[in-house]
Amino acid sequence: MCGVVGYIGSKQAAPILIDGLKRLEYRGYDSAGIAVVCGGKIVSDKEVGRLVNLEKLLEANPLEGVCGIGHTRWATHGVPSRANSHPHFSSDGTISVVHNGIIENYSELRDELMAQGHTFLSETDTEVIPHLIEQALADGAMSPAEALRLTLKKLRGAYALGVLFRDEPQSVYCARLGSPLIIGLGENENFIASDVPAIINRISRAIYLNDGEMAVLKADGVEVCTIDGQPVVPEVKEITFEAEAAEHSGFETFMLKEIHEQPRILRALLTKHVSAEGTIQPPAGLSENYFRKLNRIMIVSCGTAYHAGMYGKLLIENLTGIAVETDLASEFRYRDPKIDPGTLIIPVSQSGETADTLASIRMAKEWGCKIFAICNVEGSSVVRESDSVFFTDCGPEIGVASTKAYTAQQMAFALLALCIATARGDLTPEQLKSYLDDLQEIPDAVHYVIQQKDDIRKIGEKHHDGPSSLYIGRRFNYPTALEGALKNKEISYQHAEGYAAGEMKHGPIALINESLPVICICTKTADEVYEKMLSNVKEVEARSGRIIAVATEGDTELCKLSDDVIYVPEVRDEFSPMVNVAALQLLAYYAARARGTDIDKPRNLAKSVTVE
Ligand code: M6R
Repeated sequence: MCGVVGYIGSKQAAPILIDGLKRLEYRGYDSAGIAVVCGGKIVSDKEVGRLVNLEKLLEANPLEGVCGIGHTRWATHGVPSRANSHPHFSSDGTISVVHNGIIENYSELRDELMAQGHTFLSETDTEVIPHLIEQALADGAMSPAEALRLTLKKLRGAYALGVLFRDEPQSVYCARLGSPLIIGLGENENFIASDVPAIINRISRAIYLNDGEMAVLKADGVEVCTIDGQPVVPEVKEITFEAEAAEHSGFETFMLKEIHEQPRILRALLTKHVSAEGTIQPPAGLSENYFRKLNRIMIVSCGTAYHAGMYGKLLIENLTGIAVETDLASEFRYRDPKIDPGTLIIPVSQSGETADTLASIRMAKEWGCKIFAICNVEGSSVVRESDSVFFTDCGPEIGVASTKAYTAQQMAFALLALCIATARGDLTPEQLKSYLDDLQEIPDAVHYVIQQKDDIRKIGEKHHDGPSSLYIGRRFNYPTALEGALKNKEISYQHAEGYAAGEMKHGPIALINESLPVICICTKTADEVYEKMLSNVKEVEARSGRIIAVATEGDTELCKLSDDVIYVPEVRDEFSPMVNVAALQLLAYYAARARGTDIDKPRNLAKSVTVE
């Protein structure tokens, strides 16, 4: 959840590290620090709070040197404070470390080191690492690389590390286990980063370090080996997205920019996956024959990706004869789900680094299951550990609140469901064509909703002030209600609950009064769900609830019952969640703006949850 950067080259390291940290700040933002090798010692600055505080320190007191490491923190062990901020140091100040991940056995390591005379200045798990390296050198390790290797073998848990040695001022060391780390390759300069956006403006080629590997970077080369010292010939990948993908591009926030990117991303996914003849190829590694024999799917994911999974379940169940379950990865990994090897596991993850989702994949692999991931980040752990991947191709999602990744995950499920249904003969070619024609309308419909943003803003501003809000929907739009509530609570800090509208009478209706905004997702559907939703809206009206309806254009019923209505274009029921959620993303966005929160970096959150 923290961000790590490092630089070795001929330029001043500090401004490069700060620029990289700015681009990584979405990964954690309660404190930051850098260290640079300079004039025979390692010098460092750290500050609590946002990166701008550290920048001010450095403006007053610049750190000079061409080799350095930096870190932006999301606290796990110890409060945000200067002492707990990274980089951490060995007792003699000659070794400096930045770390993303958790060292699970740090307490026992710390006790051992203290018994050997080491003194600790922070409450963090990380601080044991420079002390262990120092001890390994004192015990006779022949080189920094060897001392680092010996240290890594003692660590239990997860790490992406950047390490500086005072006595090797032209090198940055790094290592990875369970937390992402990439090595960016430049011209006579090299970088480390926990995520591509940190250095996307500086490189076009990168090495994705594998678990259990370490590397030493010099200005003119990179050597990779395993932590057992076996040399590795790394695969160098071209970075395919442009630097602009990680910029604001004129939008006031990344979240607003990412909401606006959705129509383009959805269109591109359709172009990539639907052939000119109107067919959808099974994802690489899966086949029509495999789908014909498949009888159970288990979808595992967290947060917004879990809501996408709920939508996927409804759609695949609806279109095929396959039994589909979905679960929160954090629950799945601790239950006994009676999975047989024939079950297809679908992890869904924007970042590809979510700890619980990864743990679920690993469990399912032990059971012999095939893993088909829906993921946004190439080279991520989810991608590496899965048999087959559908890339959501969103480019970097920087806003902590997931938006474009969600609709792209929904699109992935729509395409997958149609592909499976066709392979199994559950859909005729004519039916497939009809579905695909309707799916092709979705990007424009989402665009249309985004065009209504001024009207949605007024509604968001009008209803933003209360302590709570309720979101209700049914069937395909039950996950939409959950996702709308999640968006609202995470960026506006207003308590929000999402409910299946049919559950109203079983409890939540007691909440209704004239001050509670109830967001009712009630777009027109071809089946009985619309009528049922309408009854639920009437129940809210009868109790003087404040109704904000998401309704289909031309609907004449809902405006009679509602305080405010957001109109969306009519689309096929099955695909309406992609359109409706765009309205709820904007509603949450403008409510948060009215409440004055930091929308891209909401309190207590980080973009990628790499710890359990
Ligand atoms: O990277 P992932 O998709 O695996 O992340 C899962 C959740 O942490 C994520 O969706 C989270 O709920 C977002 N902040 C929601 O906006």
